[in-house]
Amino acid sequence: MTEITMEKIVSWAKRRGFVFPSSEIYGGFSSSYDYGPLGAELIANIKNLWWQKMVHEREDIEGIDGAIITHPKVWEASGHVENFTDPLVDCRSCKKRFRADKILEEKFGIDKVAGKSLAEIGEMLQNEEVPCPHCGLVDWTEVRRFNLLLETNIGVTEEDRKTVYLRGETCQTIYLNWENVLNTSRQKIPFGIAQIGKAFRNEITPGNFIFRTREFEQMEMQFFVAPETADGWYEYWKNERMNYLVDEVGLSRDKLHLRQHAKNEMAHYAKDAYDLEYNTPWGWWEFEGIHHRGDWDLSRHSLYSGKKLEYFDQEKNLKYTPWVIETSGGVGRLALIAMLDAYCEEEVGDEKKKEIRVVMKFSKKIAPIKIAILPLMKKDELVGMAKRVFDQLKKKYVCQFDVTQSIGKRYRRQDEIGTPYCLTVDFDSLDDQSVTIRDRDTMEQKRISIKDLDSFFQENL
Ligand code: GAP
Repeated sequence: MTEITMEKIVSWAKRRGFVFPSSEIYGGFSSSYDYGPLGAELIANIKNLWWQKMVHEREDIEGIDGAIITHPKVWEASGHVENFTDPLVDCRSCKKRFRADKILEEKFGIDKVAGKSLAEIGEMLQNEEVPCPHCGLVDWTEVRRFNLLLETNIGVTEEDRKTVYLRGETCQTIYLNWENVLNTSRQKIPFGIAQIGKAFRNEITPGNFIFRTREFEQMEMQFFVAPETADGWYEYWKNERMNYLVDEVGLSRDKLHLRQHAKNEMAHYAKDAYDLEYNTPWGWWEFEGIHHRGDWDLSRHSLYSGKKLEYFDQEKNLKYTPWVIETSGGVGRLALIAMLDAYCEEEVGDEKKKEIRVVMKFSKKIAPIKIAILPLMKKDELVGMAKRVFDQLKKKYVCQFDVTQSIGKRYRRQDEIGTPYCLTVDFDSLDDQSVTIRDRDTMEQKRISIKDLDSFFQENL
């Protein structure tokens, strides 16, 4: 297989209708992307699968959908106003702006950089004569703290207008609603609250396609537990999330690992943290975190709101502030990792004619289109019969009907978008009421009676 490059993925994603640069007709808008028809299906599948497993199939987790703009005090209480910062540095020569810690991490590794103070990061840049990634010169400004919360203004008159924050992480609305959910759902500790929604960060250096953007979606679950049981639940969720990514999302196990944060690398709320990372062609990339948040969030909101957020354990006649184990993943990041994991280039054909087929080996659960229905030729009787099969299947599965170009080209097109099955209606179908079913990965073809299609797909999709 040839090398996977980001250029290949970006160009495939655009060509095949997965991801488009945002505001393209105005020349694009830095690090902002829109999902096209197939990208929208892919991320809907990623989110639905997560919701299905987290909320619908469990009795101990409830789902919510909270507001993006909340009371400004939320972000003071959460510690984000004070601590949600990255070290910013400018190159005096080319005027480009960078995250100082990321430049150092690239050169010296994360262990040598995590937890360093601003002054130490600045000294390291100068003493090690680290060049600017853009112009190659060493002429750095002082390193400053830069807050990542994205601000907006609300209010109808100038005097009324006040600054508020777009949420920097979705979980804060979970803490705000913890008591509401407890009182309305009949849950008892241990239990969790899950949410999927947009979050916003004024990233200094967004980049790597949809990996780091200023607007993104998170899938977060906060599991509220008794303090003495927190370590056990932490282990449980680390295992659960790893198994989920392999067994449900279909990622390659050998390309995943859990990396524990160094003590001085952790976010302000964390007692301990693990990153789930994927081994990309450019190194290990983090796309989900499992965080031990202790009682940080509920205690801080109790302090700032004046309302004690405590749990009363009736059996033990005991009141306490629950501790939180969090699982937090990005929808776009997981979509990108799934694309990288699925992307294959295979040599096919015989001695006379060899060609490369691009095939996206998405797991069947997240593949945007499940079945393609293809009349062998554009003849009325074949098209009519294929349409009837399409009409029958599309009620249950996301299907595509395609009649343009040769059957070989249509197979390749479906391979490139990761459709697990193609059904071809040919002249024999008119007599035997059967179609040819082709498997995306093995390219094997077999005949199947139209009346057996439903049970076949029930078993195989
Ligand atoms: N509530 C905890 C929290 O937000 P985080 O590690 O800052 O933790 C969790 O973010 C996940 O959100 C990341 O693993 C990543 O998948 C996603 N994420 C964070 N910042 C992102 C960005 N700028 N662009 C895309 N995804 C991002």
